[in-house]
Amino acid sequence: MTVLEKIKESKKFEDFINTKQGDDIFAKARLVNEILETEPYTGNEGLGIISTDKLKGEYEIKEKDGNIHPVIMLGSNSYLNLSTDERVVTSAREALNKYGYGMGAVSNYAGITELHCELEKRIANFYGTQDSIVFPSGYGANIGIISALCSNGDVIINDSANHASIFDGCRLSGADIKVYPHSDMRVLERILKKLPSEKTGRLIITDGVFSMDGDIARLDIITDLAKEYNCRVMVDDAHGLGIVGKTGRGSAQYYNVTDKIDLHAGMLSKSPGGLGGYCAASKEVIQYLKLYARTYFFSTALPASIAGGLNKAFELFETDSAGRAELWEKINYLKNKLINAGFDIGHSQSAIVPVMIYDEEKLFPLHYELRENGVYTNVVTYPAVRRKECRLRLCVMRDLTFSQIDRAVKILEKISKKYGIIS
Ligand SMILES: Cc1ncc(COP(=O)(O)O)c(C=O)c1O
Repeated sequence: MTVLEKIKESKKFEDFINTKQGDDIFAKARLVNEILETEPYTGNEGLGIISTDKLKGEYEIKEKDGNIHPVIMLGSNSYLNLSTDERVVTSAREALNKYGYGMGAVSNYAGITELHCELEKRIANFYGTQDSIVFPSGYGANIGIISALCSNGDVIINDSANHASIFDGCRLSGADIKVYPHSDMRVLERILKKLPSEKTGRLIITDGVFSMDGDIARLDIITDLAKEYNCRVMVDDAHGLGIVGKTGRGSAQYYNVTDKIDLHAGMLSKSPGGLGGYCAASKEVIQYLKLYARTYFFSTALPASIAGGLNKAFELFETDSAGRAELWEKINYLKNKLINAGFDIGHSQSAIVPVMIYDEEKLFPLHYELRENGVYTNVVTYPAVRRKECRLRLCVMRDLTFSQIDRAVKILEKISKKYGIIS
């Protein structure tokens, strides 16, 4: 059997990427497309197009055959509905009217406005740090921060469930990469104990809220271990910002360790509803990143309209008027309903609620039927998680109604019983 035949046979996503058949670099693209033609449920086309009238709070989906139908939205990271919140949109619109729609330059040249500076100040104040830096992309923020601060000779210790952008930043840095199983603090300590003394810089990186499980990193233990073993700590709180912690300051606030985190990274694309990423830290570190983080230095700045919207979003976080309490009512309501129906929802502590399926053969058709019946969830499998841990990921939004949640769970229950997920 040739390598190509083997790939066709196995139909596994990772096999295409890892192929070393000395063939044209586009050969794998052709094979993926051939397989997608015979696999109706997989691939991004199989997931449909969300054709929304978001400002009216309605969600519709356009299927491959052109059929458009409404869905209950359980797949958005705009947990507080700020991407469409009139207060935020008005602020973005005012900035758009004043500055136009693109910045035309990177931040260090002519790419920033007073709105960008205000945003950096707000983010720093939010965490109580001296300063912050805003990147035009969240993915790029992690790549830029890590690869600027770490290099050959340093060691970075990661939770296995950290986001892909963190791992990519680690690889690009050239540092030695260590990984502990998800939230396994005993293995983390074992790794730290064994670190050779010649490894100079040491950085522990973790998601705050894990993007596929919705649980919170043990930052209480991590910060203690970091102190004991002389490590810096970076937290990517993309999914905790504005939601987790007593006043929505995120995962570090949840454990009361905000001042023990050296690098508060996060994304402006999830609960703030915009785009971009940030790092809040000491003045020195931020100044260094503005010169050495290549995804900042060499990438055009965030549009002013987004910065304008984000300033309003942070104002809402600061005054706790973004609807966090309302969101938590909906989160708890959904979680209780799912547990009562017999679903395995893991250990969620946030607006991300996994519904474990554990069987990829069932996952895609189940997701498809859910969608046909008016419920949109994220479908999660390799490379985001291990195949045998595949799942639906439900994201709760503030503006969901209790009756929409009732209806969604009822539909999920009915279809999951058919597939033997629950009895
Ligand atoms: C934990 C985490 N970090 C980083 C990112 C990248 O952020 P963005 O989508 O804004 O580029 C994501 C988004 O999926 C994420 O979940």
